[in-house]
Amino acid sequence: MTDSADTPTLFERLGGVMGIANLMEVLVNRLWENVSANRNPFVHRMHDVNGRAGFMFMVTAWSIEETGGPKCYPGRDMHEAHVNMTASEHDWDVVALEVAATLSFCGVAPQEAKEYQDIFNSYRDTFLEATGAKRDTSVA
Ligand code: HEM
Repeated sequence: MTDSADTPTLFERLGGVMGIANLMEVLVNRLWENVSANRNPFVHRMHDVNGRAGFMFMVTAWSIEETGGPKCYPGRDMHEAHVNMTASEHDWDVVALEVAATLSFCGVAPQEAKEYQDIFNSYRDTFLEATGAKRDTSVA
């Protein structure tokens, strides 16, 4: 969203659909090859079973919507998308590192990189709760 009518949305500042699709292509290619990410068996299986193109489409559409572009994401919300897998805080950090590296690698300016990472990181708790890393496992 914008602060005022004059401020371009993050979607616009990242180059719209084409700019975001290019970023997500780099990110997903990096994640597919990331040895640390693939240590999580759910990630490894997803990489084996799902086509890379479909996942690229999903994260591109998600990013378009979240940065203030048109509504076009057809997938599950972030809790539903991850509730059938288990993951740790380390698994989250591995992906967050790749997001940061991709934004830098692709030359996204610091302000826009920060805003995108703020959106991404706002789902950290949702992800950790859905995947069990933050579920209360203490015995009463
Ligand atoms: C804000 C952060 C994240 C976003 C935006 C995101 C995005 C997505 C999207 C769009 C899907 C597909 C949803 C659908 O098919 O309806 C998905 C599924 C999946 N994501 Fe994420 N993801 C995030 C974090 C993570 C992290 C940190 C991991 C691994 C450590 C991960 C692993 C997976 C796996 C394994 C699936 C497939 C789940 C299944 O099909 O049951 N995601 N994610």
